[in-house]
Amino acid sequence: MLGRKGYDMAQATAEELKADFQARPKAVSQILGDVLREFGYTSISDEWVEIEIRRLLRQTLTRNHIELLVPLKSKEQLTGMLFLGNKLPGEPYSTENRQLSHKASSEVAASIENACLYENVQRAQRKLKKTMEGVIHALSLTVEARDPYTARHQRRVTGLACAIAGEMGLPEWRIEGMRITGLLHDVGKIVVPAEILSKPCKLSQYEFSIIKTHPEVGYEILKEIEFPWPVTQAILQHHERLDGSGYPAGLSGKDIILEARILGVADVVEAMSSHRPYRPALGLDSALEEISKKRGILYDPEVVDACLKIFTEKGFKFEQEEQVEHQAVVSS
Ligand SMILES: [Fe+2]
Repeated sequence: MLGRKGYDMAQATAEELKADFQARPKAVSQILGDVLREFGYTSISDEWVEIEIRRLLRQTLTRNHIELLVPLKSKEQLTGMLFLGNKLPGEPYSTENRQLSHKASSEVAASIENACLYENVQRAQRKLKKTMEGVIHALSLTVEARDPYTARHQRRVTGLACAIAGEMGLPEWRIEGMRITGLLHDVGKIVVPAEILSKPCKLSQYEFSIIKTHPEVGYEILKEIEFPWPVTQAILQHHERLDGSGYPAGLSGKDIILEARILGVADVVEAMSSHRPYRPALGLDSALEEISKKRGILYDPEVVDACLKIFTEKGFKFEQEEQVEHQAVVSS
């Protein structure tokens, strides 16, 4: 490949190409100049570039016995160059050969163009993913700065929710969405006064009613972000319960999306297992007993089964805080 910009060369033999270099050295210099600048060479004179490209091309053509050069063009852009030589049994390329290679070249050029487009799309996707994870990490840090309990809870719920999703056979892509949802699911608690969040005794009904606004607040904060997963819906619904006794909308059964049903179970198990400002930890056994008792009533039976299995048969453990923090940083 010679370059993409500025060199509009028609199908040519090696001799014609050499003649073209002599007639249009500036165009050729421009190509190599572009290439070298891409590699960071900024102080190279045009004269040096011209001499160097003549030397390189002469060398390439002679060494490889190149007889025919076919430009690979897609949408009038030069995407590459096909070098043909050493034709068996030593005859020169005929007009028919040239026409055939010219026809094939447009298909090769289109394939190269498609490959480049695909690569560009992938690069853009990687960049977008990095940006999104940066935003999520920043939001998590904001919550953490204000309320370490909630931040720790979100990270531990994330680990458990992803493990449940994996046990239920959800595809990797959907588990990735579960991870993002878990890390943000209580972001709406940012509007709850810190005195309520860290109150060391039982909450009043009024205080609890303020806490209960957090799914909707989280939804409002994030709703303008077009996640490729139902992140905002899951956040809005993660306190809904199967029998319709949850909040904010009192949804029931399969009206609650699967991600929210998984999050609901992971949320309860983590919350009961952990220390809270207003009570000591109730313990993992009590948490598992609670979801077993309410299996099919408050909690999705399949989600409960997967959760019990990963604790009792697969040895799932909430990660140590240092490890969870490290994971959160790496994932961003
Ligand atoms: Fe919550």
